[in-house]
Amino acid sequence: MHRPYDRIAHLLAPHYLNRSHQVDLLRFARYLHTGNSVLDAGCGAGRDVADLRALGFRVVGLDHSPKMISIASRQFGGHFAVGDLLAPPFRGASFHGIWSMSVLSLLDHRAKGAAIKALADLLKDNGLLFFAVWHGQGPYVTNEIVEDVPRTHFLLPPSRWTQLLAKCRLSVINTIIEEVAVERPPAFKVWARKAPG
Ligand SMILES: C[S@@+](CC[C@H](N)C(=O)[O-])C[C@H]1O[C@@H](n2cnc3c(N)ncnc32)[C@H](O)[C@@H]1O
Repeated sequence: MHRPYDRIAHLLAPHYLNRSHQVDLLRFARYLHTGNSVLDAGCGAGRDVADLRALGFRVVGLDHSPKMISIASRQFGGHFAVGDLLAPPFRGASFHGIWSMSVLSLLDHRAKGAAIKALADLLKDNGLLFFAVWHGQGPYVTNEIVEDVPRTHFLLPPSRWTQLLAKCRLSVINTIIEEVAVERPPAFKVWARKAPG
């Protein structure tokens, strides 16, 4: 698998640490309760983990880049784990909520289905999955921040995301398509609830 993030973690991390997702975090928090357990799947430098903690959740940050996790853990302390969200190092349906910002579109289409299944398995019944990806169809290459290391996102139309989620008992409860900047595709944000089995 192509994993550019570990190689350039030290260059991306300062940017990620400066970037707040507070509005979406509040939209996520409204579906949960104080003290709930939350996984940040693909947490990068850990900023969202810290902001979720500040909202009153018990949070674990997971990322497959050891360097990202080392930066996150040095910066914020607490519970971080190195691991692949396709084979997460956790057991059972132990999370009330899963947050995944700008990660799932990095997986190719086959891996997306497997990742959603792995995340759904970690969610308790009625648990909430949030993810944000770029909106569109086909490959989208970005070299934002680190110009000589392009990263490819594999975009899907909303109906395909909904189908992948439905296969894992996840029903969409809210979506937002949002313009972010002229030079980038819009963001596609999804909140989905796991139906009791
Ligand atoms: C675009 S960055 C976003 C980081 C963070 N969510 C944020 O918004 O600041 C994508 C992150 O996902 C991680 N990642 C990509 N594929 C992953 C996988 N299969 N399992 C765990 N982490 C993954 C990368 O290492 C990177 O830190």
